[in-house]
Amino acid sequence: MNILHIDSSILGDRSVTRRLSAEIVAREVALHPGSKVVYRDLAADPIEPLSAANIGSVRVGAGVAPEADVALSEALIAELFAADIVVIGAPMYNFSVPIQLKAWIDRVAVAGKTFKYGPDGAQGLVPAGKKGFIASARGGVYSGESPYAPYDHQEKQLAGVLGFIGLRDVSVIRVEGVGKGPEAVEAGLTKARADIAAITA
Ligand SMILES: Cc1cc2nc3c(=O)[nH]c(=O)nc-3n(C[C@H](O)[C@H](O)[C@H](O)COP(=O)(O)O)c2cc1C
Repeated sequence: MNILHIDSSILGDRSVTRRLSAEIVAREVALHPGSKVVYRDLAADPIEPLSAANIGSVRVGAGVAPEADVALSEALIAELFAADIVVIGAPMYNFSVPIQLKAWIDRVAVAGKTFKYGPDGAQGLVPAGKKGFIASARGGVYSGESPYAPYDHQEKQLAGVLGFIGLRDVSVIRVEGVGKGPEAVEAGLTKARADIAAITA
């Protein structure tokens, strides 16, 4: 199996999503010995956000982008296409994903490469058969019947974009209520670890 492992938390060793994503990858490697893992730490090695200077790396007719940008955009899509399993550490920062992760999204959600519009509407071009995991953490609670559910522009944004480009089989492993303190984090991690242990493929 080819596993693409992406982290985006800026909280280093204190990050909850980094712990979750590492444990999901470890589970997958245990299930599929000999797997190859490609790791991208978007906080340590940030992707240049799209700008007037480099938009040509993802948009036809938008000018000439620096060669390094073209190579990076192509490499990120190639990594995604080559992966059988995609694990993304995705914290909630101000109701959305970190800007570091948004920069990755902007490089891989590319018309003509990962999606296109046809007679039946939008069509994802990411090859079928991949499995995705979102390792999510947030200070509050947004799942289920939470009154704050409409503020979730993090899991919903990421799962939405992945589905749009063709990666529809996406599971969310989450720890919520991180802001309530260490006990809440431990309780959330215990529950998340049960979800990770239940991964069978
Ligand atoms: C800059 C920043 C913004 C945050 N914004 C929110 C927020 O809007 N809602 C929320 O519930 N928690 C918020 N949090 C709390 C994080 O979601 C929580 O700390 C989570 O564990 C982050 O994942 P990480 O530990 O992997 O970085 C924020 C944290 C930071 C550092």
